[in-house]
Amino acid sequence: MVTSDVLIFDTTLRDGEQAPGNSLSPEEKLRLARQLDALGVDILEAGFPAASEGDYRSVHEIAAEVRRPVVAALARCHERDIELAGEALNGAARSRLHVFISTSDLHMREKLRLTRDEVLELTRQSVRRARRYTDDVEFSAEDASRTDPDFLCRVVEAAVAEGAGTINLPDTVGYAMPHEYAGMFRDVRARVPGADRVILSAHCHDDLGLAVANSLAAIEAGARQVECTVNGIGERAGNAALEEIVMAGQVRGAALGFRCNIESREIYRTSQLLSYLTGVFPQPNKAVVGKNAFAHEAGIHQHGMLQNGLTYEIIRPEMVGIPRSTLVLGKHSGRHALERRFRELGYDLSEAQLLRVYAEFTSLADRKREILDEDLLALLHESFHDAPEEYQLTHLRVVCGSVSPTAEVRMAGPWSGERTARGTGDGPIAAAFTAISEILGRQLEVLSLSLRSLTPGRDSVGQVFLQAKIDGRSLSGHGASTDIVEASARALVHALNKALHADRLESSSLNAVYLWGV
Ligand code: KIV
Ligand code: ZN
Repeated sequence: MVTSDVLIFDTTLRDGEQAPGNSLSPEEKLRLARQLDALGVDILEAGFPAASEGDYRSVHEIAAEVRRPVVAALARCHERDIELAGEALNGAARSRLHVFISTSDLHMREKLRLTRDEVLELTRQSVRRARRYTDDVEFSAEDASRTDPDFLCRVVEAAVAEGAGTINLPDTVGYAMPHEYAGMFRDVRARVPGADRVILSAHCHDDLGLAVANSLAAIEAGARQVECTVNGIGERAGNAALEEIVMAGQVRGAALGFRCNIESREIYRTSQLLSYLTGVFPQPNKAVVGKNAFAHEAGIHQHGMLQNGLTYEIIRPEMVGIPRSTLVLGKHSGRHALERRFRELGYDLSEAQLLRVYAEFTSLADRKREILDEDLLALLHESFHDAPEEYQLTHLRVVCGSVSPTAEVRMAGPWSGERTARGTGDGPIAAAFTAISEILGRQLEVLSLSLRSLTPGRDSVGQVFLQAKIDGRSLSGHGASTDIVEASARALVHALNKALHADRLESSSLNAVYLWGV
């Protein structure tokens, strides 16, 4: 089988972030964009600038900072959308403007209320307009897999004639079967004049659990770009998972015959960073990045693994960068040992970061006998704060059990000295939250809270992720500690710091317009 190169178009920050519970602040997006760069994605779709001021800012900041991948921005076939996307991309080393319009009869009639001819005309005008900003224009025929094939060919022909260099044929609602999806690519390639000069792209959703299978089928039928997201996050059931496509290509190279530029050892780190930032972890049995993806429980499997890892493992954990520790860290370990371990895990810490993580490490080591890699990663993510830490929790004391739960909280903040308050609640966490809200005088509502125990054992570090509504705005926060009440209070303080940061940014903002909705 001939080996071909396939471009990886990552849309974690656009299609992925659009899904409920996955929203990220512009700072968090920038952090993830840096990691996607390290992962080696070819095209990084940074957002949809017309959707919100935050998206506009993210695209702009990512375009200015991330230099290796092509940075893409999405726009509907509307003049103002294209203008905003073009402006947001200004400053990119390599930019792509991605315009889309629905082409299925159902979408044109019910959603757009446009005729076929009108959609054809908008396609032409929009690709032409997008070309004023960049030579690299991608056109997507939304709901392509449910579009009449003859009309699809006419729309693609129009986009190619106007200079779109990439044509994306999405399975927007995850409806296609692999043989049908592959057939559509073959059809377009055979029937559209000029289709051999452009890159055809696959974009699949997972409503029937076929997003990866469909993407691989499209590659076999000639697609040279696949659009995917880390951990498969995205609208509804999600998008095709980047890590599954990449590892299928690596492990089954002979059967699939494609190559891509992804540095697979960065996969786990990218997956973890995304999970920490959104607070949404992949299900334990998720292929490649799930907690159990490399765990062997059954005795017969363990016996086989001890004889030869290949018996039950088709991917070695190291191939996707899953850390394996040999060095035991505890309270007698020094800064050098910690720095070395982080380097082994792939993180080069600055002096300031190391100092800070070390301080937290020693305090954790006082409470926990053995510090595992997972603990270290939790500490690291904790101390990579995306918003300045203006609010700090300096003291927490809770009384609970047979008495009604009360908490005493002390905090430092943008005021002189420290403030203390007491709160009560149904439980110790609620009591701590009441005290924090009392200190800040802000409207707080905790929408969801989840706890993850990172390591086994009674002294495990607990990580709390929460979504809170702060003065009407939804924000996520996370916090780690061996004490879950403290971890919860830290998570709330993290969300409050983000809210304060967002307030400050908004009051000095560029006053962009919100244009969401067709
Ligand atoms: O699923 C889809 O059709 C999309 C397009 C906007 C590319 O996300
Ligand atoms: Zn999509």
